[in-house]
Amino acid sequence: MAELLVQHITQLNTMVPGAPAIPDGAVAFEGGEVVYVGPSDGAPEAAAVVDGKGMVGLPGLVDCHTHTLYAGSRSNEFERRLAGEDYTAILQAGGGILSTVRATRLASDEELGDLLRARLTAMRALGVTSVEIKTGYGLDLETELRCLRLMALQSWPVRVLPTWLGAHALPPEFKGRRQDYVEHLVTEMLPQVAPFAEMADVYCDVGAFDLKDTERILKAAKAAGLGLRVHAEQVAHTGAAALAAELGATSADHLERLDQAGIDAMAKAGCVAVLLPGAMLYLKDEPPPIAALRAAGVPLAVATDFNPGSSPVRDLWAAASLACVSMGLSVQEALAGITRVAGEALGRPELGWLGPGSAADLVLYRTPPGEPADAASLVQFMGAHQAEVLVQDGRLIPES
Ligand code: NIG
Ligand code: FE
Repeated sequence: MAELLVQHITQLNTMVPGAPAIPDGAVAFEGGEVVYVGPSDGAPEAAAVVDGKGMVGLPGLVDCHTHTLYAGSRSNEFERRLAGEDYTAILQAGGGILSTVRATRLASDEELGDLLRARLTAMRALGVTSVEIKTGYGLDLETELRCLRLMALQSWPVRVLPTWLGAHALPPEFKGRRQDYVEHLVTEMLPQVAPFAEMADVYCDVGAFDLKDTERILKAAKAAGLGLRVHAEQVAHTGAAALAAELGATSADHLERLDQAGIDAMAKAGCVAVLLPGAMLYLKDEPPPIAALRAAGVPLAVATDFNPGSSPVRDLWAAASLACVSMGLSVQEALAGITRVAGEALGRPELGWLGPGSAADLVLYRTPPGEPADAASLVQFMGAHQAEVLVQDGRLIPES
């Protein structure tokens, strides 16, 4: 007898590669694990039973690229960008990321914790159960550590996967001394932050860090036992995606300026392409080379890039819809991109699918009025899909 059974799910999407959606599906949980996935006929008995009739079932969603932990507001900068100012020029003049750095350094742990809890609660309400969060708004040892320690608390509404992004921008105290900052990152900051982070990331771009800096930081992070990611080929082509793939990074993210050599290197290494349509939209950018990535067999993930500058988008369903309409993904690619492939991008293959051995996270949705209970309708209608039933680590979340 299982502990919990969710049955009669009108369309259950396990997100196992090649497995068709299951009509009248069921998922059973015991001891924090999935013990059955299949038709409701044949499901084990359980102590608690939930009815999923009329609903679409998916594994808990995975947002694999966010900058959710920050203080302050950039609404003024949003207005300036609408009036024609350039994102990179604002950063180089000390605004942008650096304005969020000033506010984050000044915020207390309590303020940062309250902001993080509120944001993660809103994300969970949409069925997101795993969220990667990057540092990068501290840029000094004290604040970067403070942010990572906060993320490491076990009490967040979702599973938090912390990434160290000390190389997000050059902080004011190192102005004109980029090499000194890189040295500081590698020799002083990394050894202290590494125990609190799962992954390291570098923003390799004009106005940020160059390819040589990126290589140095990623190699040091790898030696410190961290998984690797990279913000690559977003504003300018730098070669960062190929470098990251060669170093064994689990993903390269953004990729609007990716070339064929980068695609080939990513395909060879099995490096996931993380697509960030929120940033593409807000920066009025062109899509990455999706057809060539697909042809090369590079796995595609989709994330919000939630941040107060380039992507004030915290709704992963909206990102999935935008990935289809603005980048050309299929519905199935977008669904895999916010679930299983997002888990791969994080080096966490247990996330984003349902079956024995997977994370025990299940989410059920109702589609908009008049629409069939299928996942395609959730992607078609943009965003704001609230979780109707949510199971996290095998436990039913009461408020869902
Ligand atoms: O992923 N491009 C660099 N980092 C973020 C932007 C962060 C910000 O503008 O605050 C990004 O787009
Ligand atoms: Fe980002």
